[in-house]
Amino acid sequence: MRVDRVPGISRLTAVLLFLSAGCGGGGSTITPPPAPSFSLSASPSSLLVAQTTTSIPVTVTANSINGFAGTVNVTIGGLPNGVNSSSNSTFTLAAGSNQMVTFTVGPSVGHANYPVTFSGSSGSLSSSAAVSLTVSGAPLTAATGNFKQQVIYQIVTDRFFDGDPTNNDPPQSQGLFDATKTNWQLYWGGDLAGIQQKMAYLAGMGITAIWISPPVDNIDVSTTTAPNQPSAPFHGYWARDMKRIEEHFGDVNNTWAAFDSMVAAAHQNGIRVIVDFAPNHSNPDDAGEFGALFDNGGATPFATFNPDPIGFFHHNPTITNFDDPYQLQYYTLVDLADLNQDNASIDKYLKDSLLQFQSHRVDAFRIDAVKHATWGWDYSFANVAFSTGPTFLFGEWAQGSTSDSLYFDSHKFANHSGMSLLDFPLAFAMRDVFANNGDFHEIDNTITAENADFASPNDLVTFVDNHDIPRLLSVSNNLNRLHEALVLLLACRGIPVVLYGDEQYLHNDTNGGNDPYNRIFMSAFDTQTTAYRLIDQMAQLRQTNPALAYGTSRQRWINSDVYILERQFFGDVVLIAINKSETAPYNITGLLTSLTAVSYPDYLNGLLGGFQITVTNGGGNNPVTPFSLPPHTVAVWQSAPAAAAPQIGSIGPLLGQCGITATIAGQGFGTVMGKGMFGSTSLVASSWSDTTVTFSVPGVMSGSYNVQLTTNSGAASNTVSFTVLTGPLIPVTFTVTNAPATATGEAIFLTGNVVELGANNTTRDAAVGPMLAPNPPTWFIDASVPAGAPIQFLFARIASDGTVTATENGLPHTYTVPSSGVGTVQVNWQY
Ligand code: NOJ
Ligand code: CA
Repeated sequence: MRVDRVPGISRLTAVLLFLSAGCGGGGSTITPPPAPSFSLSASPSSLLVAQTTTSIPVTVTANSINGFAGTVNVTIGGLPNGVNSSSNSTFTLAAGSNQMVTFTVGPSVGHANYPVTFSGSSGSLSSSAAVSLTVSGAPLTAATGNFKQQVIYQIVTDRFFDGDPTNNDPPQSQGLFDATKTNWQLYWGGDLAGIQQKMAYLAGMGITAIWISPPVDNIDVSTTTAPNQPSAPFHGYWARDMKRIEEHFGDVNNTWAAFDSMVAAAHQNGIRVIVDFAPNHSNPDDAGEFGALFDNGGATPFATFNPDPIGFFHHNPTITNFDDPYQLQYYTLVDLADLNQDNASIDKYLKDSLLQFQSHRVDAFRIDAVKHATWGWDYSFANVAFSTGPTFLFGEWAQGSTSDSLYFDSHKFANHSGMSLLDFPLAFAMRDVFANNGDFHEIDNTITAENADFASPNDLVTFVDNHDIPRLLSVSNNLNRLHEALVLLLACRGIPVVLYGDEQYLHNDTNGGNDPYNRIFMSAFDTQTTAYRLIDQMAQLRQTNPALAYGTSRQRWINSDVYILERQFFGDVVLIAINKSETAPYNITGLLTSLTAVSYPDYLNGLLGGFQITVTNGGGNNPVTPFSLPPHTVAVWQSAPAAAAPQIGSIGPLLGQCGITATIAGQGFGTVMGKGMFGSTSLVASSWSDTTVTFSVPGVMSGSYNVQLTTNSGAASNTVSFTVLTGPLIPVTFTVTNAPATATGEAIFLTGNVVELGANNTTRDAAVGPMLAPNPPTWFIDASVPAGAPIQFLFARIASDGTVTATENGLPHTYTVPSSGVGTVQVNWQY
């Protein structure tokens, strides 16, 4: 057979040669037969692999060309340390054959995209095939009370990626979708499946948590009528049913399937899921579905705004004075039907909805408009979440700066509720500095003030852009400044949030880039932009140098254009230097640091112009050899030596009743279980690793306790403070009638004999208040108090400087808190 074939091929070759010669115009050149060769291919061409796991197989094939029949030697290149391949990094392939290769990723490989190359050679021939290997965090098996090491990516779900076109225009809400993406108030197709499909993009950027739009079922009809353009709740803040998933984000039956699938994919890659939850309101009370709320489906709503015989809603005017706490909590935010959280059914509905999300493995919550729901009730809402499992909560308390009239109330709220806050004062300071060329002192002063006032500044959730304000690039289209802002955001104290698309430099400047023009459809998923790469670098640093998550903040050098900030956690130090000037270099002299006396390369490898510095010995406060910082330069120098002793950087939550799970985080705890003390009580750890210990709050009296760990070999840690509540919290409305008159700055406060009411203290921070007096001399306030507990309480009048100007006479009032639901108690001021 073989012999027979040869003449056949020769005949064909001869014919081709003849034809070729003819076409060439009668020349006599003989073209040699095409040389045998090979090409290497690899499939799939991209892989997402979590730390501690093994990838699916990549099929590497040596494709034979022109009868190539040799053997190809293949070498795998580009694997980072900690990633092993199977087969080995070199193997041979016979022509036409293939080899399966898997990658096993170790526990500490950086979250990033790695270009892996299969290089094949055979004699003088060569060919290569590329695979993009994305390493993500290890799969998550449990929720955590510590979020400080995370980098959050905020996604407006509808505007991110359309992973499932079948849900774009669902029948129950038909017409609210705009395929042309020209009506900015309609759905554009992004969904939960889309987020799931972009998990590698997120992981490769070092993202470890996503904050998604409220995913609950929103109203099904437009809030506008023709000839006006239709308008739909693509943003998710107009709930009609908080127990189901919006059909545009999931499926036509409003099931949890797409949600669960996305959460599972995120967790598989070490990415936590933060749900935006809005307990303040349902939906517009004057259009669309007129505020009506359904309870997990059904034909009729369980709550209607009009009529509202049971009082599910407040029916007050629109908020006009954003400095008035009564208006903020009890009036109407724009036109959004304002839920009455003190109504037992609404209280239960909201808490059950939150619990349902926890049962669907949500890791944390961004609480929308906490300033507008009832503050005292918010405490019980947070308590429900903390009681159910480790979680993290941060509220949206919008304010312009630390001079805001309610700034004191904001940190009092965070410190006593256990719910952290979005850091609006720092966001506006950063926007002013980077977009309006403000003075760096503005940022520095804000950090100093907030660090003094917030019990856990490292838990503040920081940002420079969000979905409610123009993107930085709309305010000032300056990529350098965006990069500088991002590095500071990611290095600064607090948990950073990157708004989707900032890494692609998205902006639409129509109407100044205000909502909705800041909610642009994601146009590209380019993993090579400078912003994408620097976010990844800084996110990795948050994993490897605990100074970012747990450290103190110290300004080391400052002028209007230059900010040099040091973060320090015991021996771990990160020093970042930014010069935001367009033109001016600055000589940096007299700079001191806690970095030890050696040289430090720029951690960003010059990505933003950084360079090496030299530190000399100054006995701890060490001089940096003077250098010039060119305009638009950012440098990051860092060191994270092994911990000499156990070092606690975090406890979360900061408070809770006996029996709830708390998380201690830091480093050097040892891999063998050690011991812990909760005050003078031994702490029983339910899990123990070198960086994280969880335990159940022991059965001790309420109050404040120091918590300390000791390693198995006897080394003791620093202490952190935890406040034990008297019990799980129930919201109660306290009313006092006939209170004494108040002068400007004075207000009535509530105090009582439980830690939840300030343990009988009458400082403005410890006592509950200021109470509210829409109808003086009657004052009222909502406070969350221990379920089933007999409590004693009194009222006091306190001036703005903290002076107590009147107290009640006689014995304290007594009240037994209901064991579930909500409560009310009303008394007369005792003269
Ligand atoms: C604040 C949210 O961030 C905003 O987008 C929303 O419209 C309002 N709260 C009302 O839910
Ligand atoms: Ca809907």
